[in-house]
Amino acid sequence: MPFSIPPGLIESLRKARAVTVLTGAGISAESGVPTFRDAQTGLWAKYSPEELATPEAFQRNPKLVWDWYAWRRDKVASVRPNPGHLALAELEARLPAFTLVTQNVDGLHHRAGSKNVLELHGNITRFKCFDDNDPVESWHPTPEVPPRCPRCGGLVRPDIVWFGEALPVEALLAAQKASAESDVFFSIGTSSLVYPAAGLPLLALEGRAVVVEVNPNPTSLSRQATHSFQAPAGEFLPELVAALWSR
Ligand code: OAD
Repeated sequence: MPFSIPPGLIESLRKARAVTVLTGAGISAESGVPTFRDAQTGLWAKYSPEELATPEAFQRNPKLVWDWYAWRRDKVASVRPNPGHLALAELEARLPAFTLVTQNVDGLHHRAGSKNVLELHGNITRFKCFDDNDPVESWHPTPEVPPRCPRCGGLVRPDIVWFGEALPVEALLAAQKASAESDVFFSIGTSSLVYPAAGLPLLALEGRAVVVEVNPNPTSLSRQATHSFQAPAGEFLPELVAALWSR
């Protein structure tokens, strides 16, 4: 069903010197990646994300946490970017100063062709050492789960920001600057619950950006946003691209 895209939004995007987009798990939902709060299905239904995505959980039961991420990694490897990811890559190619900030760890924005991507919560396909936090590219084959860091023998963990851990400082500062300086800011597929990412649209509002939310469900941002579209990203964003370059 076609969406009614307000002419004012088209005008704002055509005039914009800087556009920033924040995405969350909802942008990948149409690829078949369960959103963070829906991810506990099947085998994993009895665990809450807080029981699996913390350094304490890893210390308590590293195999359990490793196996959960291995399951999610397989899931991500088996899916493809959807029309929402592809539309964002196209917007980047056609608009000036475009920054894509994502809370997702699935790497689907890169696979869709997005270039200027700030990953606030890490990436599920990368690994690091639990003890010294340095990247681990590979390890000696071993039946041990999780494997060990080839440098120091510490346990290898996914390069993900877990609950209670700090976000990568450079990416966060760049995201805050891009949000505060944007003329148009999109919040797409995020429940706007987890800070500091949920603070980025507020910085954009303070900077007088046009703030656009795309989410089938209302969030705490919906009432403050300039435009709030209750729609799936994979349907709305391609229509926005078409409206921008066909009129
Ligand atoms: P959530 O799972 O909290 O929220 C997903 C949002 O996507 C919800 O608001 C849905 O309504 C919306 N949604 C569902 N389908 C959609 C679709 N087709 N198009 C657009 N939106 C859709 O995921 P996040 O907000 O990303 O952090 O969660 C933020 C962070 O919470 C995650 O990155 C994770 C977790 O703590 C870490 O792992 C550090």
